[in-house]
Amino acid sequence: MITVQDAFKKFRSRLELNDREQQDASHRQQDIRRVMKGAFAVDRDFLTGSYARHTKTKPLKDVDIFCVLGDSERHYRDKAPSALLADVEKALADEYGKDNVCQQRRSVCVDFGIREDENGETDDKVVSFDVVPAFDEGKHYEIPDKDISAGWTKTDPEVHADKAVAAQKAYDREWKGLVRMMKSWNREQGKPIKPGFLIEVMALDVLYPPWGGSYAREMQAFFATLAARISERWPDPAGLGPDVSDRMTPQMCADAKNALLAAEQNATYAIRLEREGKNGEALRTWRNMFGKLFPLS
Ligand SMILES: Nc1ncnc2c1ncn2[C@@H]1O[C@H](COP(=O)(O)OP(=O)(O)O)[C@@H](O)[C@H]1O
Ligand SMILES: [Mg+2]
Repeated sequence: MITVQDAFKKFRSRLELNDREQQDASHRQQDIRRVMKGAFAVDRDFLTGSYARHTKTKPLKDVDIFCVLGDSERHYRDKAPSALLADVEKALADEYGKDNVCQQRRSVCVDFGIREDENGETDDKVVSFDVVPAFDEGKHYEIPDKDISAGWTKTDPEVHADKAVAAQKAYDREWKGLVRMMKSWNREQGKPIKPGFLIEVMALDVLYPPWGGSYAREMQAFFATLAARISERWPDPAGLGPDVSDRMTPQMCADAKNALLAAEQNATYAIRLEREGKNGEALRTWRNMFGKLFPLS
């Protein structure tokens, strides 16, 4: 039977991006580029967010594509952010169908109608994209944001990527893996922590080196620290946008804290089972926390 440590290693690699997924993302990107260029002056586009930082969970949903609009589209900056998002939604709906396209806070989501099989796999296909229209402001970008009074959020994806790279290096190249595992746990629990980016932002602060060597103990400590600090304010690590924690109400913080404390207890229990030689039961306990991609063999 597989050891718990090896099961975690396998889980970590199952959550890594593979070549076929990257190819699929690239084809989708080209397709979306074509549609966006048909409706707007688009200077350039790039894949960004947790997809580009390799901190996304599987199956791949909501891959972010920034479409940087040209000067002739600047008139949108004088209107409400929903005006731009509505026009992006219309352009995408014409191509992908109204039922597969929906407007969000800062982007428009396109669902490709991919379904997960019983093992939670999608044959390396990307489930959906978040299309983010962006304006280049020199040192950073501005994107529409319907939930803040200013209407536009400043963001710098490069700073976020640099910070993730630095954390990964300092943590013996295990930081991104732990972030993906925590995001998998969050998804499996019905997302008590929103948005997923908040997990990554907290991890920049709470996972401090050195890497201890045991995935089980690292996750146990990670749950404990997030439980203790989930109610804090978590600003944008680039110091530009609104607090990344701005969706967490006091009630959501209390619920997330309870879920994290329960997870810490389950982790403690799984570690005890393993020490007592009950390997199969230990594996099942971890799988109940992380879902189907956590291996039992
Ligand atoms: N409050 C914020 N301020 C500035 N930038 C943000 C903020 N929230 C998200 N971003 C940027 O936008 C990207 C895409 O957002 P989102 O899809 O919610 O996160 P992710 O792709 O990391 O799960 C993030 O990865 C981050 O670079
Ligand atoms: Mg995203």
